Amino acid sequence: MARILVIGGTGYIGSHTTVELMQQGFDVTIVDNLSNSSIDVLDGIEAIVGRKPAFENIDCGNYTDLDNVFSMYTDIVGVIHFAASKAVGESVEKPLLYYRNNLGSLCTLLEVMKQHCVPNIVFSSSCTVYGQPDEAHLPVDETAPIQKALSPYGNTKQINEEIINDAAHADKELNATILRYFNPIGAHPSALIGELPNGVPQNLLPFITQTAAGLRKELKVFGNDYNTPDGSCIRDYIYVVDLAKAHVKAIERMLTAKDREQVEIFNLGTGNGLSVLTLIHEFEAATGVKIPYSIVGRREGDIEQVWANPEKANRVLGWKAGTPIREVLRSAWNWEKHIRNL
Ligand code: NAD
Ligand code: WQD
Repeated sequence: MARILVIGGTGYIGSHTTVELMQQGFDVTIVDNLSNSSIDVLDGIEAIVGRKPAFENIDCGNYTDLDNVFSMYTDIVGVIHFAASKAVGESVEKPLLYYRNNLGSLCTLLEVMKQHCVPNIVFSSSCTVYGQPDEAHLPVDETAPIQKALSPYGNTKQINEEIINDAAHADKELNATILRYFNPIGAHPSALIGELPNGVPQNLLPFITQTAAGLRKELKVFGNDYNTPDGSCIRDYIYVVDLAKAHVKAIERMLTAKDREQVEIFNLGTGNGLSVLTLIHEFEAATGVKIPYSIVGRREGDIEQVWANPEKANRVLGWKAGTPIREVLRSAWNWEKHIRNL
């Protein structure tokens, strides 16, 4: 069977994607430097799938080490590049770390792929490239304008996409699929893998589940004075397992489709926008756990509302994010209870 190299594969989305790839029959080699994940994730993957993926603990920005991986695994037919530093706030404090890691690792990977004649790359991008779409572009599709990034992190995603397009223009052998994720949430239904944020969670749902677990006193809702129905921000929360399945579809399309463009871009969302307050209430309804919260001031850099038009991914990939939100929220809560032994 074909082998997929999953770079950043012990991370949140990479680990869930590895499970789906292996269950689809692919062999997987994970490359990860464990800068934002634990090697224990491999045990969770094995417990779910019944076998462990191959694992190489290297920095994918290191040409020699990455070149050695491609020399070792000569059956690699495609690469999924998840590895990046992804904390928006941290990127403002440490921009050079973000530019080096997020841009350097992609350039190194593309060079090594060319060296080993591996043509297929799936790249993790983000709806953050759209900034705050105007009303005419909501729900946001792939033709919506790219707007000036609000953070170095968001800028690295925009530049990454430009690097891929320029590399493809120069090398007609390269095939790329750019996946713009909206807001991934939840955990595998087995509760054996999930999101493991370091320190105080920046993202909404991990903060909610830690509050539900009693680790946090209350949730702070960053603003209810936005121009939305209940005043809180709106996002497109997509189940991480649905998101992972989209990567399998993208890889399969790259390996089989004759009609694909050299670089294809897909928005991966549900197509439904949910406000912060709605998500809190949905979590309470899904789990029976009350979430204490208070309304505070807006968080700098937050956009007001964004949700996807996933029609292109639905049609071209034959993929749809259909897991009901309460099932997704229960998966997050089950994972939190698993890691806290509750
Ligand atoms: P994550 O931090 O859980 O996973 C990233 C993995 O990459 C980690 O295991 C980390 O150790 C590894 N890594 C980082 N730099 C590396 C390097 N130089 N060499 C080897 N390994 C390295 O993040 P995630 O949430 O799974 O996100 C995966 C990708 O999706 C990222 O590119 C991120 O920007 C993108 N994305 C995430 C979200 C989200 O909300 N989680 C939304 C949109 C896009
Ligand atoms: C969602 C909503 C907050 C925490 C970020 C990155 C994006 C991507 C996904 C990497 C917002 C509100 C949050 C809290 C709150 N990451 N909130 N209290 O900001 O949409 O996207 O993560 O690619 O690039 O920007 O996600 O979960 O941080 O926030 O009220 O304690 O929840 O204001 O409206 P966001 P988020």
